[in-house]
Amino acid sequence: MPVTSRIAIIGTGNVGATAAYALMLRGIVSEIVLIDRSAEHAAAEATDIADANAIARPGRIWAGDYSDVRDAAILVITAGATPKDGEPRTSVAGRSAVIVRDCVGQAMHAGFNGVVVVASNPADAMTQVAQAESGLPAERVIGTGTLLDSNRFRKRIADRLGIAPGAVAAQVLGEHGDSEVMAYSTVRIGGMDLDAYLAGQEFDRAAVAHDVMRAGYTIGHGKGFTSYGVATAIVRICEAIHRDERVVLPVSTLLTGQYGINGIYLSLPCLIGATGIQRILTPELTPAETDALLASADVLRRTLQQTEE
Ligand code: LAC
Repeated sequence: MPVTSRIAIIGTGNVGATAAYALMLRGIVSEIVLIDRSAEHAAAEATDIADANAIARPGRIWAGDYSDVRDAAILVITAGATPKDGEPRTSVAGRSAVIVRDCVGQAMHAGFNGVVVVASNPADAMTQVAQAESGLPAERVIGTGTLLDSNRFRKRIADRLGIAPGAVAAQVLGEHGDSEVMAYSTVRIGGMDLDAYLAGQEFDRAAVAHDVMRAGYTIGHGKGFTSYGVATAIVRICEAIHRDERVVLPVSTLLTGQYGINGIYLSLPCLIGATGIQRILTPELTPAETDALLASADVLRRTLQQTEE
């Protein structure tokens, strides 16, 4: 695997460009290369972001081509089709798969040998498509999955409790999409579970879960797309890989029998370091949560079929 400080981002739409900008502001890596089917668009984004260099962070950002991917340690894929207002992410599975296969194929042909982070929607199926196309070990192909949804979950729980989102540990598991599982049994605040923390105070679990699941739709309806939340999830995963953090984040990974699920990408808490996913964790879930996770895996199997047509 290459030991460089370069991240390549394929797709400079709203998500790719925002991720590049956030990576630059955080000063995580010294080189960011942007690649897009429109070289002009990639060049414009790279120049615009580089205009912040002098007063933000040093580091090089440029618009490149696939030959620049060979020396990248991390390849971020955001290219894909975008669902129309109100459409589920799965509606673009077929079209996105064609794009993701093409991007990954070109990157591998160029000699890429690092860790891939996929954010293209539908996220889990596109990560699975990317892994199959790359031929890389599954631990080196990671989907942003429900890291975004878990952040939304933590924020909404925190808002209702009047505390900081960082004080709430909580996991959304399964699909990054309509079948995702708000695993309330994983909620911890200072080591206390939600019921213990609430001490009888009212809390509408179903309303919060609905709000989290609908967040992408609501934002998309208002501004036509989502970008900051998912871009920050990309940046967090890149940071964990680049710094070999061995942090635990809910991300999309290929299951190998966890909860009886095999051969499908979905999100569980994962230990992430320089080599990608180093361990998949299996928190104890309630029977209802386990059933919902199995149902989510079924949805994902069907989505994956749409990518094969
Ligand atoms: C969202 C997109 C990334 O939920 O699926 O914001």
